[in-house]
Amino acid sequence: MILALAGFMGCGKSSIGRELSRLLGCDFADLDDVIVQNTGSDIPEIFAVCGESGFRAMELGALETILTSDGRPANMVLSLGGGTLMTQECADLVRSLSTCIYLRASVDTLEGNLLLVGTENRPMLSGKKPLRERIEELMQMRSAIYESTAHYIIDTDGKDDRAIATEIIKTLGL
Ligand code: S3P
Repeated sequence: MILALAGFMGCGKSSIGRELSRLLGCDFADLDDVIVQNTGSDIPEIFAVCGESGFRAMELGALETILTSDGRPANMVLSLGGGTLMTQECADLVRSLSTCIYLRASVDTLEGNLLLVGTENRPMLSGKKPLRERIEELMQMRSAIYESTAHYIIDTDGKDDRAIATEIIKTLGL
């Protein structure tokens, strides 16, 4: 089974994904890391050179390879990027070829986490708008798509990575 973790930037997809794969004893991949490895460029560089649309095309290509290649592991945890599901083809692939879990967090939690880790590597959050306003704006565009694409929704506010990973395992009966 491929477990795809979805959710907004700063919701903890990568760290929870790592914890979950550790608890399940299966492979882990982070879609952003795969793109960085494939291109040899970091995410801000890719956005600067190819624009958001170029990045989204790479995201779709990488996702397609991970979900459909013959050599894919039978069981793995895959952390998506925060905008992956906004590409319809990506959402269709995730919905049909993985079990998708939306890690749902409030704007307060997202803002707190993003302030802690910084936003320099996240071009979708750069610009003149205050961080909170930008989170609210993007969440307004995205939350319905996260919710309709995911097979399961886990609310994460106030919970640590371990508790969230354990809740996913329990919810899915793994
Ligand atoms: C993006 C989220 C990022 C990365 C890229 C675009 C987005 O991933 O894919 O910067 O559009 O929300 P994280 O959610 O892992 O930060």
